[in-house]
Amino acid sequence: MNEIPRPFSPVLVDRLAVAGRVAVLTGAGISAESGLATFRDPGGIWEQFRPEELANMTAFLHNPELVQGWYAHRRKVAEEARPNAGHYALAELETMVPNCTLITQNIDGLYNRAGSHHVIELHGNIMRSYCVVCARPATALELATLSEGATAMCPECGGLIRPDVVWFGEMLPEVAINAAADAAREADVFLSIGTSAVVYPAANLPLEARGWGAFVVEINIEPSAIANAVDEVVLGPAGRVLPELVAAVWHKRTLLTN
Ligand code: OAD
Repeated sequence: MNEIPRPFSPVLVDRLAVAGRVAVLTGAGISAESGLATFRDPGGIWEQFRPEELANMTAFLHNPELVQGWYAHRRKVAEEARPNAGHYALAELETMVPNCTLITQNIDGLYNRAGSHHVIELHGNIMRSYCVVCARPATALELATLSEGATAMCPECGGLIRPDVVWFGEMLPEVAINAAADAAREADVFLSIGTSAVVYPAANLPLEARGWGAFVVEINIEPSAIANAVDEVVLGPAGRVLPELVAAVWHKRTLLTN
């Protein structure tokens, strides 16, 4: 019987099988098969909504109801979505590699729900909120109010409570971007999955990793902005490619350890 050709190279499987450190960068594409819209694909979020009206502090202070309503909607969609085979494969990869770090630009929390533990959230998490004045994290009760699309004020200082996500014009959390840069620098293999790689500084991480000697691989349904600068491009949906890849790595690791 003829074997079905794999979309990735044996070199990638070999590299992952012996890797001590793997860093993975994910973008909206990995959650597409969970039914969550990406940002820049046809019909994506930025085609339907204007970032300047919704995803920045000025917009929030000008019209908090509108912005909270939009995030309440996105939170509900993310809560109702289920992790897909790509998310689960990454959680499994974490159990196989001695040091595996998942760096995500996503805010949907599906990576955690699939079982990944070492996650760096570069753009925050839509399930959390905090006070714009005193930075106190929102309680479960306040989160429930926000989920109904209403605004909520901090009971301690009266400040508006906002989603814990990075908006346009804001810096990434320093701890997160530093930890991500460390993971990129130390990685033996770096996987860039489902991201258009046009938003910095995240888009720079695969390039930095390559500069430090990592074998850098992109997994995407089409070549991204950095496809020409990586070692291998694997074309295909993450929900199909990742389970196949992780199974092949598991098989190779088993052969090497027996
Ligand atoms: P984009 O919408 O820019 O890119 C999504 C990528 O996923 C594209 O390259 C698609 O080809 C790819 N893709 C779609 N379906 C896929 C699938 N099933 N398997 C694999 N790849 C698939 O999303 P991001 O790169 O994540 O930031 O966008 C980066 C940032 O831009 C977001 O975090 C957000 C946005 O503005 C903030 O809101 C701060």
